[in-house]
Amino acid sequence: MPQGIIAVGNLKGGVGKSTIAVNLACALASRSVRPVLVDADAQGTAVEWAAGGGLPIDVIHLPIDEKTEKKAWRKAVKKHQEAAGLVIVDLPPHWGPALTAALDVTDLLLIPVTPSGADLRATMQALERLAETRAKREGAPPALLVPSRVDRRTAAGREIEAVLADMGEPVGPAIVQRSAHIDAFTTGKWVGDWARRSAARADIEALAARVKRSLT
Ligand SMILES: Nc1ncnc2c1ncn2[C@@H]1O[C@H](COP(=O)(O)OP(=O)(O)OP(=O)(O)O)[C@@H](O)[C@H]1O
Ligand SMILES: [Mg+2]
Repeated sequence: MPQGIIAVGNLKGGVGKSTIAVNLACALASRSVRPVLVDADAQGTAVEWAAGGGLPIDVIHLPIDEKTEKKAWRKAVKKHQEAAGLVIVDLPPHWGPALTAALDVTDLLLIPVTPSGADLRATMQALERLAETRAKREGAPPALLVPSRVDRRTAAGREIEAVLADMGEPVGPAIVQRSAHIDAFTTGKWVGDWARRSAARADIEALAARVKRSLT
């Protein structure tokens, strides 16, 4: 059973952080594990997704911003991990200190990256934050770059794995741009319940399998 704290973050909006965080948490849920999704974004995307009660996880809103006392925030996240075993943190975009604060308690950092120049630059900045944490803390988390919202019809979409491989961190299975992800959110389900036999679900399950290997 995977145990620990997985953070999903990048310093860029709209890259698929919440989509990956929620679907991954649901894919990792089982009869014996009910993961807690910590929605650390004031926007509350995951909270909204879960509002209808259609997700097999618990979603808790613990926004992290300039006003947050970070030590208390980390303590709260750790408490959820002790109780539930597995916590997935959906981080807010843009604000670097949130990423740094989360890195102090994270066992694995997932960095969704879409095939676009602006995202690649934000990813480099996120990796700088990770390098700073690794320099000061032994056992600082491994990272996994996750190609996200990938459109293989474009050259950038076909080349994303090769581009990410040059960044020096492992590259995980891609989450392709598919309408099932949008419909799953709209209906308050995760993609595995919304479209059981879909390619969208298969992408998420491949990522979940990779995450399980990293955490055990
Ligand atoms: N693989 C995908 N296929 C299709 N649509 C996607 C995919 N991933 C994300 N989206 C859509 O893209 C939009 C942004 O996704 P999401 O909210 O997951 O990104 P985010 O990085 O969490 O954004 P924010 O920075 O605002 O928190 C949403 O409308 C979502 O449904
Ligand atoms: Mg989000």
